[in-house]
Amino acid sequence: MAGKVDVILGAQWGDEGKGKVVDVVAPDYAVIARFQGGPNAGHTLIFDGKKHVLHTIPSGVFRKNVWNLVGNGVVIDPVIFLHEVKGLEQAGVDVRSKLLISRRAHLILPTHRALDAASEADKGEAKIGSTLKGIGPTYMDKTGRNGLRVGDIERPDFMDRYRALVAKHERLFGIHVNKPEWRSKEQEWLDAVQMLRDFHLVDSELWLHEQLRKGSAVMAEGAQGTLLDIDFGTYPFVTSSNTISAGACTGLGVGPSSIGKVIGIFKAYSTRVGSGPFPTELHDAAGEAIRKAGNEFGSTTGRPRRCGWLDLPALRYAALINGITELAMMKADVLSGMGTVRVCTAYKIKGQVRDSLPFDLAEGAEPVYADLKGWGALDAARPLPPEVEAYITFIEQAVGVPVRIVSVGPDREATLVREVASVPR
Ligand code: IMP
Repeated sequence: MAGKVDVILGAQWGDEGKGKVVDVVAPDYAVIARFQGGPNAGHTLIFDGKKHVLHTIPSGVFRKNVWNLVGNGVVIDPVIFLHEVKGLEQAGVDVRSKLLISRRAHLILPTHRALDAASEADKGEAKIGSTLKGIGPTYMDKTGRNGLRVGDIERPDFMDRYRALVAKHERLFGIHVNKPEWRSKEQEWLDAVQMLRDFHLVDSELWLHEQLRKGSAVMAEGAQGTLLDIDFGTYPFVTSSNTISAGACTGLGVGPSSIGKVIGIFKAYSTRVGSGPFPTELHDAAGEAIRKAGNEFGSTTGRPRRCGWLDLPALRYAALINGITELAMMKADVLSGMGTVRVCTAYKIKGQVRDSLPFDLAEGAEPVYADLKGWGALDAARPLPPEVEAYITFIEQAVGVPVRIVSVGPDREATLVREVASVPR
């Protein structure tokens, strides 16, 4: 029987802990494939007392006998990529032999990063809060049919193509007030491109179909989260790719009929990094306590993350858009010790209560809360306390999807798998 592609994706604003879940389930899969985003992502994995942060490389890289594929939907900065490879190799990880890169993946140029910075600086107060990794300008060149792809580095005229794109970017700098310097980054980038040629560059869609034909199980690893999706996120405060399950089809070249499970990852609370609407954001001691206990600082940028209570209308929306079949609740331990835990069940907008996401969350959505009993310390070796079970049941009934995985600490081992039946709504 042909293999299936299960999808793991973020059901909130990113940073849900996808890397950890992918790492935990990786032994069940022959292939872990990233399908969108780029080095704006920071997937953190902790095991054997060590912390690793991955930006471009899929989170299956620490497991033996697992192929890791960087799919066509990903955008790659060769400098950041090589830096990541070197860091892993220094930690004793064999990266190269099990890593494949799609020839169709687009390249982030130093000028893309400079354009990102120029665009954000020009926006002033209205800035998106981009990670400034060049993501937006690279996807703009992809859809504008100007981009450079990984496969282009194998062509004899690569440098001509590169110079033509840089010349276009230089003209574009003309429309910006702020023009960051980028030339000093060029040689390092060209050297990294040279080194990229030594990796396994493949026609990934064909390779993947061959794996599926042989019956291999594939895990598609998403980056960012549903509410940062270019179509369904809180536009314009979003990233430039499809972070939703449909993105796995376009970002890997598989049809919807190949998709198996869709696993939505969410934190027991909410966070957001960068600008944009966030109805349950806390500006008080509770928010600060969550930030501290959850170490909520960006793994790519180090920025403090905005923290707030769980937002059920947003989670339900994510379940709908992605066709989520099961949920994984992360960081339940971060809320330990809070007497009361709040959950947003609906929004009040212009005096009207609604439990679905409006066209523009920025127009003032006031959360309507339910208060639930908090819990004490959590331990993966023990059953979940009844308060956590009650919290989970509340979520399952509101979203209509079972919570199968519960994470109670950063380590690989601090993970519980629940037996779940179907959830009545
Ligand atoms: P960009 O994708 O770097 O341009 O950033 C666009 C928006 O998405 C900004 O608000 C970023 O903070 C946010 N963002 C991008 N990548 C991530 C991520 O991996 N986790 C959380 N937020 C992200």
